[in-house]
Amino acid sequence: MERLQKVIAQAGVASRRKAEALITEGKVKVNGQVVTELGTKVSKGDKIEVNGVQIEGEELVYYVLYKPTGVISSVSDDKDRKVVTDFFPYIKERIYPIGRLDYDTSGVLLMTNDGEFANLLMHPKYDVDKVYVAKVKGIPFREKMRQLEKGIELEDGKTAPAKVKVTSVDKKKGTAIVQITIHEGRNRQVRRMLEAVGHPVLKLKRERFGFIGLEGLRPGEYRPLSPHEVKQLRNLAANLTR
Ligand code: URA
Repeated sequence: MERLQKVIAQAGVASRRKAEALITEGKVKVNGQVVTELGTKVSKGDKIEVNGVQIEGEELVYYVLYKPTGVISSVSDDKDRKVVTDFFPYIKERIYPIGRLDYDTSGVLLMTNDGEFANLLMHPKYDVDKVYVAKVKGIPFREKMRQLEKGIELEDGKTAPAKVKVTSVDKKKGTAIVQITIHEGRNRQVRRMLEAVGHPVLKLKRERFGFIGLEGLRPGEYRPLSPHEVKQLRNLAANLTR
């Protein structure tokens, strides 16, 4: 038995708080009856409707995908470009990405049908560390990297402090490899940060989301997260009120 608002949130219909509002507003039916009491317990066989639409009690599933470049972090695309769910042809659950990576960024992308888990990991308050590796134009000076470490002014506000390391330089080609760890998830954030200090990104890969990396995966491959990993990710987020 689970609490009704939790089941609605997990189905990806709404956040837990929105689900509570939907219940108290009388928009939720269980087995045909309007239920307005928060905390009502439901079980697997119960028919739950939100605004007249039945939610499906799918088994909750969790995967890590090695997203290749040239793929949209979405479940569909109006221009018919490749999307991340195309890599899961045999998965019947309606999974979607937790957050997004740019079309031209590769790396770790978590996928699930657990709306509550996705909301938890995407909530700015609980942002977990993400490690990116960027190939950049030019050879960064220490001072530029220190600016990124302290936080840098972008058009949507100052970035939180980042961890930055130049791991190699190619003097001949005039490029460098920079490892950067951030916990925020703003649109094209790493690209914009590096651009702002004069080092446009030529290539970008997310190597880690929390402690989840790409070990054993090639681009386009995925693996299920173990129940232990899911639990650890939940704990990580929950203990991280920033
Ligand atoms: N930062 C970016 O610039 N792009 C991504 O895909 C992720 C983080």
